[in-house]
Amino acid sequence: MRTKYCGNIKIVDLNKSIVLCGWVHKIRNFGQFIFIDMRDWTGIVQLIFEIENNVAFKKASTLRNESCIKISGIVRKRKKKNKNLNTGDLEVLVNKINIFNISKKLPLDYANNSNDDIKLKYRYLDLRRSKILQNLKIRNNITYLVRNFMTKRNFLDIETPILTKSTPEGARDYLVPSRNYPGKFYALPQSPQLFKQLLMISGVDKYYQIVKCFRDEDLRSDRQPEFTQIDIEASFINSKKIQKLIEQLIRKIWIKTINCHLTKFLKMSFHDSMQRYGTDKPDLRNPMQIIDVSDIFIKEKFLSFFKINKNKKNKIALLCFCQGDKISRKKIDEYSTYVQKFGLKKIFYIKIINSQNVYENIQSSIKNILDNKILNIILKRTGAKQGDILFLAADEEITVNKSLGMLRTKLGSDFTFFEKNTWKPVWIVDFPMFKKDSSGKFSSNHHPFTAFKTTDKKKIEEKLDDAISDSYDLVINGYEIGGGSVRIHNAETQKKIFNIIGIKKDMQREKFGFLTDALQYGAPPHAGIALGLDRIVMLLTKTTNIKDVIAFPKTTSASCLMTNSPSKLKKIILKELGLNLFKK
Ligand code: AMO
Repeated sequence: MRTKYCGNIKIVDLNKSIVLCGWVHKIRNFGQFIFIDMRDWTGIVQLIFEIENNVAFKKASTLRNESCIKISGIVRKRKKKNKNLNTGDLEVLVNKINIFNISKKLPLDYANNSNDDIKLKYRYLDLRRSKILQNLKIRNNITYLVRNFMTKRNFLDIETPILTKSTPEGARDYLVPSRNYPGKFYALPQSPQLFKQLLMISGVDKYYQIVKCFRDEDLRSDRQPEFTQIDIEASFINSKKIQKLIEQLIRKIWIKTINCHLTKFLKMSFHDSMQRYGTDKPDLRNPMQIIDVSDIFIKEKFLSFFKINKNKKNKIALLCFCQGDKISRKKIDEYSTYVQKFGLKKIFYIKIINSQNVYENIQSSIKNILDNKILNIILKRTGAKQGDILFLAADEEITVNKSLGMLRTKLGSDFTFFEKNTWKPVWIVDFPMFKKDSSGKFSSNHHPFTAFKTTDKKKIEEKLDDAISDSYDLVINGYEIGGGSVRIHNAETQKKIFNIIGIKKDMQREKFGFLTDALQYGAPPHAGIALGLDRIVMLLTKTTNIKDVIAFPKTTSASCLMTNSPSKLKKIILKELGLNLFKK
């Protein structure tokens, strides 16, 4: 139909006859001539309709924005150039126009940014003009790179079932009722975890898949109920090899997409990460760290001042915000309220006005319990200098880490005190094997198919809280972009884990019998990882909203405003599925 794309018209096309297809982006009618910015997915070019060409001119005057058209015309130089357009030196003098479809008045206001619900309801229109289409092109380039990279290394792209059984990844399952077996349900996979392990038992040496996963969980700006993983598994391989492979893949994606050479991938234990950053997803661009000063405040008078409950595991720690002494009392109060969300009763502060004769030269909410000696130890430990502010938290260790970790992130987003345009990848390793809830019940920290790193079996059995798993998460700039582990390849160990996390024997058989059976037929040692494709694209397109990298995303309450799903079913269909609804 066309000979050119709007955004690709160049000076070599000058005086040539061309045919374009696309949409009306903007109309300016000057009576004697009409300017139309015409758009397709490569960009925009200016069309000009002159009154002398009566037929084309008349048709052009009936157009509305977003109408779909085809034109033929001659490329010529523009009198007034437009620096904002790639084609800004040129325009097309139209001799013929074919109108495919006049658009109704749009429900969206592109210029004034319509509200998010309207944009999601008319997603196909929002995609036409927004940056999201550009993001989808970047996403396409990344998946192409991944396929290329994995195929070159002999990984087989194998599809795994969508209608399947529960694979516990820590969320609720999306369930699909079976018509053939009324009262029975398929679960949509939270990940292809068990299938990729079974493929290893089948002798597939290396597997990968770019695959949709489904998780019914609370949504956030980096979480969708259906999202895409780059899922990988290999046999006869250890965690180091998997990490090396992923570093190569990530480096390649970064170079090819944004021409950035990633340097070092750091490695940090879960324990260190929690102690220093209060999270297992630290954004290492932010230089602040949580500094433990519990030993400085060990005396009884301090513990009672901070109202510390001695029966708990406590911590007193500081965050040093360099050159933060200009923060107002009002702002400090706001931060104090902010950390209360994470269980901290209060945040204390010390402003270092001058580090000489420091006691005389501080402003602090705890001045009455400090002295020169303590302050000098604090300055030495934290490296705090004149002009800095220290935030202090004293409470249960878990609360202090969480609160100061969140405050660190908040300060990082409220102020520009570090280079944001840089990349800090880090592997978080040595996760505890289990989490324990308040009733003492264990659950897996990753999924229950993760192997122990600790090899001393006796030690494991004696102290499950201390058992370390052979798992690893890849974090970049505060986003968890991947997670994986070495797997259990022995049926007995697998059953032991199920026992520890409280899955009863009959349930083990019913839910995971196929896995524990398969593990008894010469299962090879194997390991793997899954990367969150959406999050990688988010990082590379510099968006903080996962919806910007997915063509048809769901709202934060997991609905699709465009198709109105989920939706009700007719009684007859429910009956066929053997379902009966009851009012909640
Ligand atoms: P995990 O649960 O850590 O591991 O998931 C792997 C990666 O998938 C991404 N991710 C998500 N992205 C968007 N929305 C979500 N709701 C969402 N949930 C997870 C994250 C995460 O790091 N089977 C294991 C992998 C393995 O052990 O091989 C698994 O799924 O970037």
